[in-house]
Amino acid sequence: MLSRLTAGGVEFGRSCFRLCVSPGASTRHLQQISKLSCGGRGVGVTLHTGAALLSAPVRCRGWKSPTLVQLAVPKQNGGRLAQLRQTTTSAGVAAPVPQQIPARAEKIVGSWLLVSAGMVFGAVAIGGLTRLTESGLSMVDWHLIKGMKPPRTQQEWEDYFKMYKETPQWKYQNREMTIQEFKFIFYMEWFHRMWGRTIGLAFFLPAAYFWRKGWISKAMKPRLAAYGSLLVFQGLLGWFMVKSGLEEPGDDIPRVSQYRLAAHLGSAFLLYVGLLWTGLLHVLPRQKFEMTTQMRQLSKYAHGTMSLVFFTALSGAFVAGLDAGLVYNSFPKFGDRWIPDDLFNFDPKWKNMFENHTTVQFNHRILGTTTAVAILSLWVWSRRLRLAPRASLALSCLAGMSVVQISLGIGTLLLYVPTWLASTHQMGSLTLLSFAVWLATELKKLPK
Ligand code: HEM
Repeated sequence: MLSRLTAGGVEFGRSCFRLCVSPGASTRHLQQISKLSCGGRGVGVTLHTGAALLSAPVRCRGWKSPTLVQLAVPKQNGGRLAQLRQTTTSAGVAAPVPQQIPARAEKIVGSWLLVSAGMVFGAVAIGGLTRLTESGLSMVDWHLIKGMKPPRTQQEWEDYFKMYKETPQWKYQNREMTIQEFKFIFYMEWFHRMWGRTIGLAFFLPAAYFWRKGWISKAMKPRLAAYGSLLVFQGLLGWFMVKSGLEEPGDDIPRVSQYRLAAHLGSAFLLYVGLLWTGLLHVLPRQKFEMTTQMRQLSKYAHGTMSLVFFTALSGAFVAGLDAGLVYNSFPKFGDRWIPDDLFNFDPKWKNMFENHTTVQFNHRILGTTTAVAILSLWVWSRRLRLAPRASLALSCLAGMSVVQISLGIGTLLLYVPTWLASTHQMGSLTLLSFAVWLATELKKLPK
């Protein structure tokens, strides 16, 4: 507890400095300071402890530079608290001192990032359900503020329904739909959008507050700006995706472009990974381990599997976007063949990768299986090494989840993509990614 008294946030002057104490330390700890010595001499000390900030301006007379400042407490209370080296130049000008963020503030910022990540997880789940219930095309325009209010009166509902009747989805697919059914798909999409707005508020308001308070480190600032931009981009991309489903379709099935769906899902996954990664690094105390050559290799391998999970999920978005889970509902064979014969039906050939239902499903199966095999091999290999307990747990969770995820995928396929199972499979992919990110943070090299 006493070691929480840190040298952080020290403002050096010629004869005065301010010692900032992490909020985890209480006034009592400051009062325990029995002696403050400066350059070997005892100095006059005035300790003021503001209740909130717990900072103590300390005045040293006869300041010489460079000077070692020591704070001492009686031995029975834990001994010396901190040593601060005074670093003024000979002219007495303060040298820049890196600002240290109090430990409690780090934890608060970390928890906020993790909550934001959780909300992005929720958005992906709601988005998946919106797509699977074919609700995403029920709102035909997008307004940041005006769009928050759902229709209230019968007349308003009639008006919105009339607008929906202009869309290809109604014309080609939903002509039989009643206004009651329309209300359901409308509310699904409306809720998804409102959730997105809530994430915006839950991210930007605290971000501004923490930034002002100086709780965001210099290294964190560009990252935070990137997450904020990604969040805004995510909203715009969502609308860009919906718009593609409101245009007249080439064939008779109105659906959003699979490219835009993959971009929307991929950028949500990126945002999620970023928030989770940074949040975990803030919140979890680092566990010590020796960075041997084998550990370095393991860490690289773990990063590789994280990328594999990401790309498998992205390929899954193409399966979902094309409804390619509805061809070849058998496993492991494709019908009665190991390799389907319509893999390269389209010209040019590259188009098959993204537009041919069979090829898209084939790629996703291969990638999914490779990912699971890679994760399980990583787990087997790691048994020979001495991992820190949390890293070992993260890896075991990752391995277990890879088996669950592949089973969910196979189930989704064999049962002709029921909504509940497809949605669980989608959430499984984010859970798998979360374990991969967790493992990667646990294997990150400890700062010297
Ligand atoms: C590590 C393994 C896997 C991961 C990370 C993964 C991830 C995903 C993701 C993110 C989607 C998109 C869901 C959506 O947006 O609604 C998806 C869809 C799908 N995946 Fe996987 N998948 C994996 C393995 C498999 C396997 C092995 C199979 C089948 C053999 C499979 C079958 C499917 C099917 C049928 C869909 C389409 C579901 C729909 O239309 O909503 N997946 N997958």
